[in-house]
Amino acid sequence: EKAGFDHFMLKEIHEQPKAYRDTMGSRLSADGRSVVLNELNMSKEDIQAISRIHIVACGTAYHAGLIGKNVIEKLARIPVETDVASEYRYRTPIITKDTLVIVVSQSGETADTLAALREAKRCGARVLAITNVVGSSAAREADDVITTWAGPEIAVASTKAYTSQLIAFYLLGLYLAQTLGTVSADEIAETIAGLRKLPEQVEAILKDSSAIESYAKQIAEHEDLFFIGRGLDYAVALEGSLKLKEISYIHSEAYAAGELKHGTLALIEEGIPVIALAIQSDLFEKTVSNIKEVKARGANVFGIAAEGEEELAKSVDQVFYVPKTLDLLSPALSVVPLQLLSYYASLALGHDVDKPRNLAKSVTVE
Ligand code: M6R
Repeated sequence: EKAGFDHFMLKEIHEQPKAYRDTMGSRLSADGRSVVLNELNMSKEDIQAISRIHIVACGTAYHAGLIGKNVIEKLARIPVETDVASEYRYRTPIITKDTLVIVVSQSGETADTLAALREAKRCGARVLAITNVVGSSAAREADDVITTWAGPEIAVASTKAYTSQLIAFYLLGLYLAQTLGTVSADEIAETIAGLRKLPEQVEAILKDSSAIESYAKQIAEHEDLFFIGRGLDYAVALEGSLKLKEISYIHSEAYAAGELKHGTLALIEEGIPVIALAIQSDLFEKTVSNIKEVKARGANVFGIAAEGEEELAKSVDQVFYVPKTLDLLSPALSVVPLQLLSYYASLALGHDVDKPRNLAKSVTVE
């Protein structure tokens, strides 16, 4: 049932190209110029009436929601807030009839996420669920559903469900943009072309993970480390840090690279591992200057960059390249080495990769 892999997590990491293809599936028009989301019951008028969007989720799904905020705001120009579900209802959020609340849940059964969904409905908002389980509570109770076709995810650490949620956000962002006319037809076509390339680009990353494996063995000897990045890279850093904590039990913190010098830089000392994401081309130079700040304090920096950014090698100790894509789509590639890193670190430390201590796959208590 593990299809020749040692663990479900590794199998699921390798299933991502298929999960991307299945989630995009027939939702991209044959001419590659538009997104088809027939499952949405929203008319053009309904979409035009949306004045704000709240994305609510837990854990890894919340991290997908942080990317979703970025994608929707950039493409559809609708203001978006992303909240942790266990916090959302207690901060008296402003939920009106023209608010679209998007709940993101692999299982569709997470207690806090369902409670947020019910609160949103009680306030008269329209609720859209992004879920991996057809017929789950979230799918049944929401007004609209986008199913992620990742297939069953067994490992407690979420991998292919997260990346499929990213694909769902790209599709939704493009769909809203094409309906509202906020992005040119050519830019939509260019983004769709980028989406279509992602599965083979993930395959290319998965072909050789030996550099990640050997770096995982190095970090397994440390008790603390940092992930840094800006913008979307920061959102991916948060997910990489959660994954590492969850299955390797190594403490780590994800930091917005430009925020380090406002306190956290004090923790950087000789030899501390820092995993630096510098994928987005528009933020590359800014991130490199933050990398230099930690390097100057003795950090051992593992850089992750897009192919073509060869000069990063000069500023870091080791570098791992991911294929080049549009900045907006880059999280769907850059998270893959981080998933592998946490997998191999957990393995090196002899932990139960698929069933980490204290955790359950589906959290049905608040
Ligand atoms: O089923 P859900 O997507 O609602 O689950 C949410 C979180 O419990 C889940 O993503 C959790 O953070 C993962 N174990 C992280 O890998």
